[in-house]
Amino acid sequence: MLFDLAPKTSRKDLYDFNEELEKLYKDYVNARLVAVVGPRRAGKTSLILTFLNEYRIPHVFFDCRTVSLSDYGVTFRSFAEVFSNAINSFLDKHTVFKNRLLNFLRGLKGVEVDASLARIYLRWKREDRFSVVALLERLNAFAESEGMRLALVLDELQELSRLNLNFSKLLAYVYDHLKNIVVFVSGSQVGLLYDMLGVDDPESPLYGRLISEVRVRKLAREESIDFLERGFGEVGLVVDRRLIEEVVERLNGLIGWLTFFGWSYVNGLRDLESVVDAASRQEALEVRRFLSRSRSEKRLRTMLKLVSQKPMRWGELKKALEFSEGVEVDDHNFNSLLQKLIKAGLVEKRGENYLVSDPVIAVAIQKYV
Ligand SMILES: Nc1ncnc2c1ncn2[C@@H]1O[C@H](COP(=O)(O)OP(=O)(O)O)[C@@H](O)[C@H]1O
Ligand SMILES: [Mg+2]
Repeated sequence: MLFDLAPKTSRKDLYDFNEELEKLYKDYVNARLVAVVGPRRAGKTSLILTFLNEYRIPHVFFDCRTVSLSDYGVTFRSFAEVFSNAINSFLDKHTVFKNRLLNFLRGLKGVEVDASLARIYLRWKREDRFSVVALLERLNAFAESEGMRLALVLDELQELSRLNLNFSKLLAYVYDHLKNIVVFVSGSQVGLLYDMLGVDDPESPLYGRLISEVRVRKLAREESIDFLERGFGEVGLVVDRRLIEEVVERLNGLIGWLTFFGWSYVNGLRDLESVVDAASRQEALEVRRFLSRSRSEKRLRTMLKLVSQKPMRWGELKKALEFSEGVEVDDHNFNSLLQKLIKAGLVEKRGENYLVSDPVIAVAIQKYV
């Protein structure tokens, strides 16, 4: 079903994106490190899961958001728990080789292997914690012995940027030495992700290594209309073309919001602005989470409120900020905060203008942040 809210996992539910699927497969075969980037709700997770599933790729899927949303926050403890779960679900899916894999993991420091349940547990306490490198080396040795390329997927990797782990170094090591592992990272906050990996930093261990990029795009107007009509068609609803056009106009090609509208409509919530409002309450939590992590929370909030009202030029936004705060703001400080909003994927630069391009986030900022 196109209007299912969960990330899609099969081609029959995935609208379009065939080229991107094929590109992912080519990269899986030829590349070492692949980045799937694009705005939130553009369909990155759906694309990756569908690719893994349709091409039957052996994979360890790591959802980095579950680390940052867990009770222990971004800590080595929650990282270890999510990593254990990721490997355990890999074991669950492959009864054929699960014992062979467990044999490879046995005897590794910080890794408990329960053969009867076919489960592993990764220890996180400082004295006897597992080593990420050693674990990946064993996974690689296992993959090599099976003659397989193992996909290691780190979905929304930038969520782990506050973890005391050098991902740039780690992924450079995998890149150079663990040839049976292909790493896929995804990120809604592309700037943060690439900063974390040190893509443009000559001092970074990953610098100079080729990262194959798959960009998940927004849908064009005609595609958006087609998507909604097909989705309604699947459930036998005929919806007025004018409403569909209005929805497409409002939601700006983000497939996640189109899906959310379709799902809401099918479930009886039919007023577009009410749907936008419901979605924006959710998004407000994310924006607040982002702001609360910054030392300049108040100023960033003001900037977001201003720029969410209308596209503004650099100088215009700065003046509006100064007017609102009643003080002069230093160019450098202003610029670095603006870059921060861009890297977080909240603000976009288009031509000379800065704007909040996700209409739902714009409402969230205006009403609930
Ligand atoms: N190609 C697609 N076809 C149909 N629905 C999609 C597609 N891509 C995403 N969706 C839907 O949009 C929403 C967001 O998708 P998701 O893959 O989680 O996006 P992202 O990972 O980029 O934030 C989900 O409800 C998902 O079911
Ligand atoms: Mg996702």
